[in-house]
Amino acid sequence: MSNIDYSDKIPNNVNLANDRTLQRALEHWQPRFLDWWREMGPNDFASVDVYLRTAVGVDAQGWAHYGTVKMPDYRWGIFLADPIANRTIGFGDSFGQPVWQQVPGEFRSQFRRLIVTQGDTEPASVEQQHRLGHTCPSLYDLRNLFQINVEEGRHLWAMVYILHAYFGRDGREEAEELLARHSGDVDKPRILGTFNEPIEDWLSFFCFCYFTDRDGKFQLKSLAESSFDPLARTCRFMLTEEAHHMFVGETGLGRIVRRTLEVMKEIGSDDPEAIRRRGAVDLPLLQRYLNYWFSSSLDLFGSEVSSNAATTFASGIKGRPDETTQYRDHVCSDSTFEIEVPDGRGGVVKDTSPMRNAMNEVLRDAYVRDCEIGLKRWNMQIKRAGYNFELKLPSNRFRRAIGAWANIPTDLEGRPIGREEYDRSLPGWLPSASDRDYVKSLMQRVVEPGKMAAWIAPPERGVNNLPVDYEYVRLN
Ligand SMILES: [Fe+2]
Ligand SMILES: [Fe+2]
Repeated sequence: MSNIDYSDKIPNNVNLANDRTLQRALEHWQPRFLDWWREMGPNDFASVDVYLRTAVGVDAQGWAHYGTVKMPDYRWGIFLADPIANRTIGFGDSFGQPVWQQVPGEFRSQFRRLIVTQGDTEPASVEQQHRLGHTCPSLYDLRNLFQINVEEGRHLWAMVYILHAYFGRDGREEAEELLARHSGDVDKPRILGTFNEPIEDWLSFFCFCYFTDRDGKFQLKSLAESSFDPLARTCRFMLTEEAHHMFVGETGLGRIVRRTLEVMKEIGSDDPEAIRRRGAVDLPLLQRYLNYWFSSSLDLFGSEVSSNAATTFASGIKGRPDETTQYRDHVCSDSTFEIEVPDGRGGVVKDTSPMRNAMNEVLRDAYVRDCEIGLKRWNMQIKRAGYNFELKLPSNRFRRAIGAWANIPTDLEGRPIGREEYDRSLPGWLPSASDRDYVKSLMQRVVEPGKMAAWIAPPERGVNNLPVDYEYVRLN
């Protein structure tokens, strides 16, 4: 493993210094990235000191350094997980053959599209969260937001490195485009729908980290299985950072539940209005936010049955998360997958698809199971506090815009219902305008070290063994 040289303009463990052309190309892109960061990142906080971790290597032990930096001085680097000796292709038609160190010509455009789509989400999320810092519920949370922002910036670097190093001129052009599209831009929006919705309150931010960023985790997990080894190694290391983003989402929502339960206990009531008078988030309101973000994130996995998914699996481009440990049949040439689809007459019918064509659905199923873990934990908290309320994920047929269930009206349980009933019920299932106004009214910034906004409980512990009341961001 090569060491990381921090005196390099671009910290890296890919021996950039040995490839002058590539190094020059990336050094040419670097100031553009910094311009983008200054304009589209958390720009009002450019001069504040933030306690951040920076990736400095790929060792499981000690891969990150913690310290205080100003965000524009963050050292965004390029890191690939260590190669696995004699790694072979783990799935599809070429199962068992040596992995590729270059992109095979026949798969070039498919790889490029996947890498660009993944790469596009990274800066998109920074743009979506552009103004969120102004309404932070605590310095601890503000720091976590910035940590995620700088790491999504590094994930952009990870994808841009692959584009520059393996896709020649096309790759360099795509890297420029990654900085030219912007979240919510009318003329040049980000590629995926969910990444064009602004995130203006912290309840949405925590939902985004929990649901939408978790889609990212699953995409990275399946790309980490890819036969194109540099891509697999890049994604494997990105997952190390991603774990913290999942943590922020899960603990953020868990802390909101804890605070709500405290308020319910204090006032001896679960009446939403009474809870709101005390400035907390009533659980039905939280449920509506979960319904919204879960259903919008499900679409990111694509159609249930997809010939494109079959091709990327067969060719060894994109596997299933944890392909080696979770599955026995890695070829899937004659297995099938059963899915439930609308029958066109307001009912449901079972359909059988070749397994390879159903890979999006396999991925979505794994994602849904992962989403359920947090809900179980929060429901346990609610139960222990003595309340009879259960947070639930809606059916994966609910409010879909892509796939077999796109635009089919169903209730939260996934039962097909009439269009009129759907339109009538929807305001009770999703955040209403008054819900959003209420959440907005809670977004008052709290920046005294250790203090929390009234709608969220403090975290159980601080960052990197520091106390919760540490001054994680010095706003000076
Ligand atoms: Fe990311
Ligand atoms: Fe992330």
